[in-house]
Amino acid sequence: MRTIKIFDTTLRDGEQSPGASMNLSEKLEVANALAELGVDVIEAGFAIVSPGDFESVREVARTVKGSSVCSLARCVTKDIDAAADALNDAEQPRIHVFLATSPIHREYKLRMTPERNIEAAVEAVQYARKFCNDVEFSAEDSTRTEIDHLCRVVEAVIDAGATTVNIPDTVGYATPNEMYQRIRDLLERVPNIDRAVISVHNHDDLGMAVATSLAAVRAGAGQVECTINGLGERAGNCSLEEVVMGLKTRSDVYNAGTRIVTQRLVPTSRLVATVTGLKVPRNKAIVGQNAFAHESGIHQDGMLKNPTTYEIMVPADVGFQKTDLVLGKHSGRAALADRAKTLGYELDPKQLVHIFEEFKKLADRKKNIYDDDIRALIEQQIHEKKDKPEEIGWSFVSYDLRCRTGKEPHVILKLRYGNSEYAKETSGGDGPIDAIFLAIRELTEKDISIKEYTVQSVTDGEDAQGEVAILINQSGEIFRGHGVSTDTIEASTIAMLNAVNRMLQKQ
Ligand code: KIV
Ligand code: ZN
Repeated sequence: MRTIKIFDTTLRDGEQSPGASMNLSEKLEVANALAELGVDVIEAGFAIVSPGDFESVREVARTVKGSSVCSLARCVTKDIDAAADALNDAEQPRIHVFLATSPIHREYKLRMTPERNIEAAVEAVQYARKFCNDVEFSAEDSTRTEIDHLCRVVEAVIDAGATTVNIPDTVGYATPNEMYQRIRDLLERVPNIDRAVISVHNHDDLGMAVATSLAAVRAGAGQVECTINGLGERAGNCSLEEVVMGLKTRSDVYNAGTRIVTQRLVPTSRLVATVTGLKVPRNKAIVGQNAFAHESGIHQDGMLKNPTTYEIMVPADVGFQKTDLVLGKHSGRAALADRAKTLGYELDPKQLVHIFEEFKKLADRKKNIYDDDIRALIEQQIHEKKDKPEEIGWSFVSYDLRCRTGKEPHVILKLRYGNSEYAKETSGGDGPIDAIFLAIRELTEKDISIKEYTVQSVTDGEDAQGEVAILINQSGEIFRGHGVSTDTIEASTIAMLNAVNRMLQKQ
C-alpha cells in the first residue's frame, strides 16, 4: 500500500470561493483542525497578495505543528521573497511556485515562448530552493499543455530542485482516463521523475475533480491537492473527504491510503462550513446530513438486517455521531463538556462557561436538546468570539414587532453598542424581517443591501432552532453573518448584526 500525501488548500484556493473569506483567527482555527485531521501539507495562503494574507501565512506557520505549511508564489522573486519570509517560523516550510504552461496561457496571458516558459520556471525553482529544501512547482493548466512541452518543463524543474511537481487540471477539463494517461506519460517519459513526488490539483467544473484525482493516484501520483467540502475557485476543487474515503473504501482498487484521521472529517467539514458560511448540501457525499440517512422502507429493512446491505462505509468512521436526545434542563456542565468533546469540540473553560449559560437558556425555550443544537450553540460562540469583540460591535437586546396582512410592519428594536443601549422605532418593509433590517440600517447608519438570506432548521421538531445565514453588500464588499435561535426573527437579527460587525471590524 502506498501512502498518498494530502495537500489541503482550503485556506488558499478554498478561500477564493466567492463569500468564503476568513479572518485571521478563523484561519488559525481551520489550520489547527487540518493539522489534527492529519493533512500532510497545509497551503496557508498566497503571502504576496495582501498584508492580511502575509500575516495569515506567518501565523499559521508559527502555530501549526506536525504538518508542512506552504505559501503560494508566482515565478517572481518578490513573491518568493514574501513566501519565504512568511514561512520563516514554520516547523516544515514549503514554497509553492506556479507558472502556466499551456499554449493558451503562454500566448495570451504570459506572452512567453515555450523556451522562456521553461527558463522562468527553472529560475523560480532555483531561487525558491535558496530559502527552502521543500519546493513545489505547479504547471498551471497542465491538462491543456502539449505533453512534449509538459515533459520538458517537469524534467527541467526537477533538475532545478523541485521536490514536488504538480499537474493541475486548472479548468476542470480533463476526463479521468486522460488524467490517468497524462500521469503515466510523465512517469514513463521524464527521466528524473523518481526524484520528485507527482501531485494533482483538480478543479470541479465538470464535476470530475475527485474522479480525475483518483485516476491520477491509480496512475502513480503521490500527492492529491484538495479542499474541505470541495470549496474553491468557481465550481470548487477536489473534495478532501471524498478523495480520502474513496481511497480508503476502495483500497482494493487503488492500493493506497492516507494519514487522514477519518473520524475528524465531519467535525472539520462543519467547522469550515461555519467559518465560511458556505453550507454543505444535505446530499453531499461523506459529510452531508443525508449521506447515511435511509428513507426507503426496503433500504431500512435491509439496514436493520445488516447495515452493509446499503452502507459501504461506517458512519462513525467519518465522524458521524448518532443524533440522539442527549441533554436536558437538568444536565450539568461536565455532561455538556463531554458531549461537546464527542462532537469534536475541545472547549476551553471560558468557552464552556459561556456555552453552558446559553445551553441553560435554550433548555428553557426548547424541550429536547439534540447534538445539532449543541453544535449550533458552539458554532454561534465561534462566530461571536471572532466577530464581536466586546468593545466594537452591535448586539441584540430585544424587539417589539407588529405585523398585519396589508399593513406596514411596525418595529421597536433595541440594540447594544459597547455599554450603551439604543432603540429605534420605525415602520416599513415587506414583512417582519425586512422591518427589522430597516431598523438595523437606521440604527447603525449603514447603507447595507442584502445579497443572500437563508434560514434552515437545526434539527427536526416544532421547537427546532432556526439557523440564519446572511450575506450583505456594502459598497461592493461582501460580509457574512450567522445567527441561531428558536425565534427566527431573533436569529435573523443576530445574523445581520454579526455581518455588520464583520464590516465594522474590516473598516
Ligand atoms: O488551479 C490551479 O492551477 C492552481 C495552481 C496555483 C496550483 O490553483
Ligand atoms: Zn486551483
